[in-house]
Amino acid sequence: MTQAASTNKPFLRALAGETMTPPPFWLMRQAGRYLPEYRATRAAAGSFLDLCYNPELACEVTLQPLRRYQMDAAILFSDILVIPDALGRSVAFKQGEGPVLDPLSGAADVEALLVSNVRSHLKPVLETVSRIKASLPEKTALIGFCGAPWTVATYMIEGGSSKDYAKTKEWAYGRPAVFQALIDILVEASSDYLIAQIDAGAEAVQIFDSWAGVLPEEEFRRWVMAPIKAMVERVKAVHPTVPVIGFPRGAGLLYEDFAREVGCDAVSLDTTVPLDWAARVIQPLVTVQGNLDPIHLVSGGEAMDRAIDRILNTLGRGPFVFNLGHGITPAAPPEHVARLAERIRAFR
Ligand code: CP3
Repeated sequence: MTQAASTNKPFLRALAGETMTPPPFWLMRQAGRYLPEYRATRAAAGSFLDLCYNPELACEVTLQPLRRYQMDAAILFSDILVIPDALGRSVAFKQGEGPVLDPLSGAADVEALLVSNVRSHLKPVLETVSRIKASLPEKTALIGFCGAPWTVATYMIEGGSSKDYAKTKEWAYGRPAVFQALIDILVEASSDYLIAQIDAGAEAVQIFDSWAGVLPEEEFRRWVMAPIKAMVERVKAVHPTVPVIGFPRGAGLLYEDFAREVGCDAVSLDTTVPLDWAARVIQPLVTVQGNLDPIHLVSGGEAMDRAIDRILNTLGRGPFVFNLGHGITPAAPPEHVARLAERIRAFR
């Protein structure tokens, strides 16, 4: 019997291909600054990374949105940049600036990455996973996650967020052997990390490729699809029944080949993906997740209601998990999230 057949958790049943009415839901970045209780815990924790490595407080912020909205899944509170941190690169989150990393300067920096350090460095995160698992309501599933190699590589090479990813693309196009070495290290470290999260209690995992959409087709296949496919194979070799969700944000028409070829059980759709196309082309291949524009949660009102209904009516008749098309923003009023939750639950 597969894991899904033996579960009564709606989120896991949807990932296994069942149509659930109403659909299960959770929200990317559901633990975060739009919640006053998050801001309070965050202030008490010290730095953002201190919060990520504090099992008691990281568990607390993971559970905060569930207490308000009873999502069908909790997502581990952590960040995709704990992997560069574990590999020995300096990572800091500066107020108002986002992440700041010491950028990789070349092959010598890649060779010096501390691959064997990852499991021990990330032990506190694994303890957080076990703690969350022990405190979840019976119907709520636990999602583990990591960043995809391409997206994590952009932060490591650019030294933070970027407008054009020019340095990373220069490595990928002009120095593919060095870039491949970096990607291979990230594939290995991130797969091991996901396997460890599952060992600790995660019931599904999501791979975030937030900047997948900036590459031309050939490079998308090589640096987005191939590394994620390799990760899915590694995870499934150890945990064949644990579902994997891929999020190749901005993939456009390449969502189809991604859904067909990478081996994910579900694909998370960004805000720009047309709903009718997704229902016709992607949903027959895999469970789909998405894709309300997070800014609808800021503006609210009738426009938000209409957008929610369009998604429910188009994707809600097949295997589907309601989510946003990208992370919730700090400006979203918590009452709008409550209204969204109500509206999803009322769907028949
Ligand atoms: O979804 C969840 O609730 C789980 C927690 C989670 C965080 N980051 C917490 C966080 C997850 C799944 C992530 C993923 C992540 N982190 C991604 C992929 C998803 C996406 O949004 O595209 C990326 C690209 C990052 C890198 C990152 N972390 C950036 C660019 C920033 C700064 C921007 C910002 O929102 O401040 C972060 C910081 C971060 N990660 C915060 C949170 C709650 C805010 C930090 C704070 O509290 O001060």
